[in-house]
Amino acid sequence: MNSCEDPAKRENAEPEAYQEPHRPQFHFSPDSMWMNDPNGMVYYEGEYHLFYQHYPGSTVWGPMHWGHAVSKDLVHWEHLPIALYPDSLGHIFSGSAVVDWANTSGLGKEGEPPMVAIFTHHDPEGEKAGRDDYQYQSIAYSLDKGRTWTKYEDNPVLPNPGIKDFRDPKVFWHEASERWVMIFAAGNHVQLYNSANLIDWSYLSDFGQGIGGQGGVWECPDLFPLQVDGDGEKMWVLLLSINPGGPNGGSATQYFLGDFDGKTFTMDPAFAKRVAADTLTGNPYWVDYGRDNYAGVTWSDIPKSDGRRIFMGWMSNWDYANVVPTERWRSAMTVARKLDLRTTPDGPRLFSQPVQELSKIKMPSKPIPSRTVSQSMPISSLLEDQSATLSLKLQLAWPNGQQPEEIAVVLSNSKEEAFRFGLSDDQFFTDRREAGKTGFEARFAQSKHTAPRWRNANELNIKALIDVASIEFFADDGGVVMTDVFFPTEDFTELRLEVKGGRVAVRGGAIARMQSIW
Ligand code: FRU
Repeated sequence: MNSCEDPAKRENAEPEAYQEPHRPQFHFSPDSMWMNDPNGMVYYEGEYHLFYQHYPGSTVWGPMHWGHAVSKDLVHWEHLPIALYPDSLGHIFSGSAVVDWANTSGLGKEGEPPMVAIFTHHDPEGEKAGRDDYQYQSIAYSLDKGRTWTKYEDNPVLPNPGIKDFRDPKVFWHEASERWVMIFAAGNHVQLYNSANLIDWSYLSDFGQGIGGQGGVWECPDLFPLQVDGDGEKMWVLLLSINPGGPNGGSATQYFLGDFDGKTFTMDPAFAKRVAADTLTGNPYWVDYGRDNYAGVTWSDIPKSDGRRIFMGWMSNWDYANVVPTERWRSAMTVARKLDLRTTPDGPRLFSQPVQELSKIKMPSKPIPSRTVSQSMPISSLLEDQSATLSLKLQLAWPNGQQPEEIAVVLSNSKEEAFRFGLSDDQFFTDRREAGKTGFEARFAQSKHTAPRWRNANELNIKALIDVASIEFFADDGGVVMTDVFFPTEDFTELRLEVKGGRVAVRGGAIARMQSIW
């Protein structure tokens, strides 16, 4: 159990809590009941806040609340009471939170800037009645480090102008224009508004009509600047979740690169060309090519001295989220990830890496010895105590330019269930078709999941985080990421490297168990 957790808060918890089948050990999951999108991620006074879409009445989606947890290190989480409950204006859908340092809203009190949450009120009655205006943006504030929240008395602050899907506001302070900017989903595109005080909002612009992946409704945008290669050109990154229409089906998150001048987001011309040329999914740029990373956005108010852009997503997919085989709770978040823009032969791209704080829960690593593999090499035998919670790094090469047909890392158990991931025919892949329970939804394990490999190199660096029922596979230093969940009938404890149609030189690597955070 988490050392920073007060056991009294969990007195209603079942004794087996966090030991249940498929329960992640180092990823955030709700103590019980339903969870979807991360919401209101904000850092304040030494705490990373994580709110989330939550229905405390069931393990399936229902009237949404904001669940709440805090962490001092992005790794260990303490559950807090529900922050926002549905009210007469509706259910509490996704949104963001900021610290209003200068008390522009006037909601603060002396010496204590308010934390302000900006969220969508979803009116189920309006939806039932077939109206278009049942979603609108509202705010709530906290003067006690997020422990209690007061809804603003004149909600909504942004009424609905007659747009059916009008939701998921992400707000940030735009220094150059000295305004708060709100970006949110409006049907099949996004809209931007600004405000001097978080209360009175003015329309700025639209982005996205007919652009990028359009296979489903747009949801949960985020917009933030990053410098290419850390200190180069500043570009604005627009994250945009879409459901369905992901590269491997169902929900997924695409991104756009460009400029934001305080009013309009304009795609970088070279980037726009590549987006326009993509005929497969409408956009070749995805935050994650796996099936299970949705509605992810980034933390607000990370101190300048830290400077990271930190992301977290919901580790599920609307194709089957409501029916995955867990009983007491449903779904988990990805680990916190640092996002960067790096130069590639194809222009700047978004890279993701697990935050370095995760090394705190890594047990001592075992080095993977260098050798040539043409068939199979056991890896997990390096660990005395085999476990389903692992961190794996592998450096592979095919020195003569002769790339094997397939390089696969295989996770398995004594029931001959297996999850495979790797590189095959120049595509990264994950394959959960034989990984245990799959029959709960036809779309869960229909096919292999693939991602294009855009780096042309005679070597491959793999990083993977495996946590009982999930994998986060970071290929080519995080230039391609695939996140997938799986449900073996018995924990996966064996790990091996398999090579087909050629040989691979293992140049090094390491494997370590990850400790439970609960
Ligand atoms: C994304 C989403 C959001 C919405 C929320 C409702 O997964 O559909 O657009 O605000 O979930 O729970």
